[in-house]
Amino acid sequence: MAITFPPILYFIITYVNHVRSLKRYPKGPFPLPVIGNLNLLSPHPYVDFKRLAKQYGGVYGFSLGMNRYVIVNSAESVREGCSKKGPQIAGRPNDVESYIMVSRNMISLGFSEGTLWKLLRKVTHSALKVYGSNLERFNETIVTESEHLHKLLREMEGEELETLSCLGPSVLNVICQIVFSSRYNGNEAECKDIIKFQRLVFDGLATTDIVMVLPWIRYFKSQGYESLKDGIEIRDPFLKRKLQEHKNNFDADNIRDFTDGAILLADNKSFLNKFGIDRLTDSHLEMMINDMLVGGNETTLTSINWFVAYMIHWPRYQEIMYEEVINVIGFDRYPTYADKNDLPFVSACISELLRFCNVAPLGVPRRTTEDCTLEGKDIPKGTTTIFNLWAIHMDEDYWINPKEFNPYRWLDEDGNSIEMKQYKSFLPFTAGPRGCPGQDLARMELFIFLSRLIRDFRIEKPENGPLPDLVGNLGITLTPKPYKAKFISRNNNI
Ligand code: HEM
Repeated sequence: MAITFPPILYFIITYVNHVRSLKRYPKGPFPLPVIGNLNLLSPHPYVDFKRLAKQYGGVYGFSLGMNRYVIVNSAESVREGCSKKGPQIAGRPNDVESYIMVSRNMISLGFSEGTLWKLLRKVTHSALKVYGSNLERFNETIVTESEHLHKLLREMEGEELETLSCLGPSVLNVICQIVFSSRYNGNEAECKDIIKFQRLVFDGLATTDIVMVLPWIRYFKSQGYESLKDGIEIRDPFLKRKLQEHKNNFDADNIRDFTDGAILLADNKSFLNKFGIDRLTDSHLEMMINDMLVGGNETTLTSINWFVAYMIHWPRYQEIMYEEVINVIGFDRYPTYADKNDLPFVSACISELLRFCNVAPLGVPRRTTEDCTLEGKDIPKGTTTIFNLWAIHMDEDYWINPKEFNPYRWLDEDGNSIEMKQYKSFLPFTAGPRGCPGQDLARMELFIFLSRLIRDFRIEKPENGPLPDLVGNLGITLTPKPYKAKFISRNNNI
């Protein structure tokens, strides 16, 4: 009795305080003791959140454990939250142990806040610009990797391939070349290390998420933290080595890549002073390299992996894309990003991919850094705020039959692209000051990889094999369950 009493008292006091605090947040479901509203969630929380919006409106409070979050579900409120209220909702939850671990105490671009975050954003944009100021270099890098991928697929012609492992190295190589000028054939120890630490960190973050909701669970469940620790142990020496290699050969008159661009700015006192920050340490730079690597790889690879699955499900769209590429470009060359406006059906398939696959269905959690309002509802400073991107991409008020993959919704009656601006309920990269800094690169990668893939190969499911499952696994991103595909060469090589 004496042993159980203090924890019970703790749970009662926490619950009473939590219930008292509810009036400070937008209205939402009433929480149960200890678990809050967890009882309302299935393995697909974005679907549950959308359903609850019918009852509570586009912006409502929701208790994960004894923490009140705000869930934002309508196109209008997500836009307001990203853009008009962007500066007030630009923070990240800063009390989550796993986030603190992976970001070296919140000093990375993806997790930092305030002045440091603004500075890191500026460095990221500038260093990316230095690499590909006229986009031509990005184009070349992606084209090279797409060519390597096609060579590989031809060598394995007709085999039943596990899609993630055959597409993975090419997508990884794009970001590795941009960030630190390395490319891999997939067998090098360094390449295996990158894939391994990213997997361990992602798995660790996904399984420690529950601790954010029920903090006391950490005392029972440590597997996620082990995975994080193992991942970080492989990651950190690698980041250190990459930065040191660059520093050893650094030449300010010959900026080779993103890392060089970041080193250049980190030494620029007048630039740093504008932000009131004296210096960026090696640790900041290492974390920037890491964020580009992680942000640039997983999301893009997952989107391409979903695309292949959709093409197996809806083969007629492969044929229409192929016809368009051949009719517009001919057989003598391959599409480049400059052809984008002349290939409206290909572009429509990519927009529909981004809407339909919802790689980041709940975005990345934000935190309010001051009191603010959304849709006129008060949200106190320090509230974790979730943008339900899945809900706005599946909103029946904006999309006809949203659960159908239909590229034609992006075209007018004459087959011309409809301007993106018209789609108020489409924000795969979010927007505003904290929107994805890699979205131009991501769009370019998707266009080049996918238009070329369709030009050279017909994608099929394995003989007698199942169709890919269209219900994803939710971890840090929403990924397809592992599946196999056959890439049949169209035999029209240049
Ligand atoms: C299909 C591909 C991609 C999708 C769907 C995507 C989506 C997103 C989303 C939803 C966020 C959260 C923004 C927010 O907090 O509101 C984000 C953040 C971020 N993305 Fe992307 N992204 C993609 C590709 C990329 C690429 C290619 C890069 C790198 C070149 C990248 C780097 C980042 C970084 C560094 C952040 C954190 C930014 C910050 O916290 O200030 N992403 N992305």
